[in-house]
Amino acid sequence: MDRTDGMTDRRDILQCLMGLPFATLRPALAVDWSPLRIQAKRAGLFYGTAVSGALLKSDSEYASLVGREAGILVAEGETKRSAVQQVEGTFNFGGADAILDFARKNQQMMRGHTLVWHRSNPAWLAARLQQTKDERLLTDFISASVKRFQGVFHSWDVVNEAVDIASPNADALRTDSIWYAAFGNSYIETAFRCARDADKTVPLYYNEANLEGDVWWAEKRRIATLNLLESLIAKNVPINGLGIQGHLKAFSLKFNEEVFSRFLDKVSALGLKIIITELDVADIHGPSDPSTRDQMVADLTRRYLDVAFSKKAMIGCLTWGISDKYSWLSDDKNYRWPDGQRSRGLPYDEYFRAKPMRDAIAKAIENRAI
Ligand code: XIL
Repeated sequence: MDRTDGMTDRRDILQCLMGLPFATLRPALAVDWSPLRIQAKRAGLFYGTAVSGALLKSDSEYASLVGREAGILVAEGETKRSAVQQVEGTFNFGGADAILDFARKNQQMMRGHTLVWHRSNPAWLAARLQQTKDERLLTDFISASVKRFQGVFHSWDVVNEAVDIASPNADALRTDSIWYAAFGNSYIETAFRCARDADKTVPLYYNEANLEGDVWWAEKRRIATLNLLESLIAKNVPINGLGIQGHLKAFSLKFNEEVFSRFLDKVSALGLKIIITELDVADIHGPSDPSTRDQMVADLTRRYLDVAFSKKAMIGCLTWGISDKYSWLSDDKNYRWPDGQRSRGLPYDEYFRAKPMRDAIAKAIENRAI
């Protein structure tokens, strides 16, 4: 238990003791105002968020919220290849180091995202890969990154989003990727083995998107993901867990508890750990009244996390940002509002006020009964 956690626990106990003789004070004590990181820890989970190093420096309100609520950080961009290897042959971990520095000061863990993706690669990489098909263009970055944060990072997302239902192949694995073009599907296995060679113990995750919808195409994605995980395990590829991104869509995608629960059970049965790695809720197409929308976003968050947190294999959850002031949903062409208003898909609003979604996360954590 870190220092801040201990302090808050003692405060809670004191408050409880003080409140005991006064029955009238009791109802107020029912509200748990502890930071999410502490509530999560008590439930055997972690809670954290994706962050931007630049914003941690420039926005002190944002930084103190992140410091207070999050027990684990992940870089929204700084550990991606486009940031680290802008120039071939060089590695710049400055952005990641700045976040790690913040995390250390706040007794937070940090995870790595992501070593291999078809997006967020430096401009020079595609042409070099096509020319040479040199495997070191895949492995050098993995080795350098994993070694650099050896013994420090909580876990790594090794491969991100290898499933694509538009794939021409029966396995529904992505072909429109520089990695598939150069190496076929073997790049996935190579990446995990290389990461394990670089650090014998850091937990290695496969991270995937759109695994929760109650629609045929999401079912196809779930099947493809399970097949991929099974085949990696059958080949003794070192993999420890599945990262479920959790970019929910409150008004354009059906969610069904049983469907999601069944999927999580199948992943658990493979002996893998599970993390919700990038939770947020797209609110596009929702009602125009923000408070109605906020409540609906919160309701979905609660339904989703209640299922997620009921599984033993689930070890924690990170939101993809913490305040609506800074959310990729407000910029992404699929999720942004055409009138320019901000998306409201994160636990805090743009003025750093807690929204119902924050409460939903807290209640789902509290509700974890395993
Ligand atoms: C996004 C970031 O939020 C953006 O700032 C960046 O421009 C592109 O990537 N799934 C992922 C994340 O795995 O890395 C993506 O992050 C969001 C979708």
